Amino acid sequence: CSDTSFAETLVAWQKRHGRHSLPWQNTRDAYRIWLSEIMLQQTQVATVIPYYLRFLESFPDVFTLAVCPLDEVMKYWSGLGYYSRARNLHKCAQIVVREYGGEFPADPAVLEKLPGIGKSTAAAIAVFSSGVRAAILDGNVVRVFSRVFGITDSPEGKEGKKRLWKLAYKLLPETDLEAYTQGLMDLGATVCVRSKPDCVRCPFTGNCVALSENRIAELPVRKVK
Ligand code: ADE
Repeated sequence: CSDTSFAETLVAWQKRHGRHSLPWQNTRDAYRIWLSEIMLQQTQVATVIPYYLRFLESFPDVFTLAVCPLDEVMKYWSGLGYYSRARNLHKCAQIVVREYGGEFPADPAVLEKLPGIGKSTAAAIAVFSSGVRAAILDGNVVRVFSRVFGITDSPEGKEGKKRLWKLAYKLLPETDLEAYTQGLMDLGATVCVRSKPDCVRCPFTGNCVALSENRIAELPVRKVK
């Protein structure tokens, strides 16, 4: 699969078959997008949705969140787990209010310096709120790349990480960053799943190294070699 045709194929597939009505889609409100990306870091979509909606009802904007005492915020996170996310969320809201006048920065490099926001989360927020050209790389994306391109580097090793990030940038289209990024997430979450991927529904069936070489179960490589 060539780099441009990968992006073109994925964008076309996302527009036709991807998810379009998740509660954090169809908005450019960086606050809402940020909140969703933090909740989705370690929690599945179906679990996140009710928490996300309840959280937004109580904290509709970054100012409301920043002035609320942390223990009150924790009540709305209770049950989602990975509670450092909530503490960082609160800290981040206070920084955005204090240092950025309540506006989330559009630059992923700046976003990445805020508490709780890693490289991939920063890129997702920037893409969905500003259409910026930035690359995501989470577990789902690693799986898609490893299988389609037959990558045998472990994503846990330093070299493997570097190669995968390089590929993530190389594959980025010039336009349609939102559909492309959402497409990676959708494909990894709904088709190219860890066990028993639904290859019949995949737009890369004809170009997937793992499928053609019967190595689906082996990729992505798990242990550091
Ligand atoms: N996982 C991480 N970010 C996501 C998003 N914006 N939509 C669906 N799943 C996600």
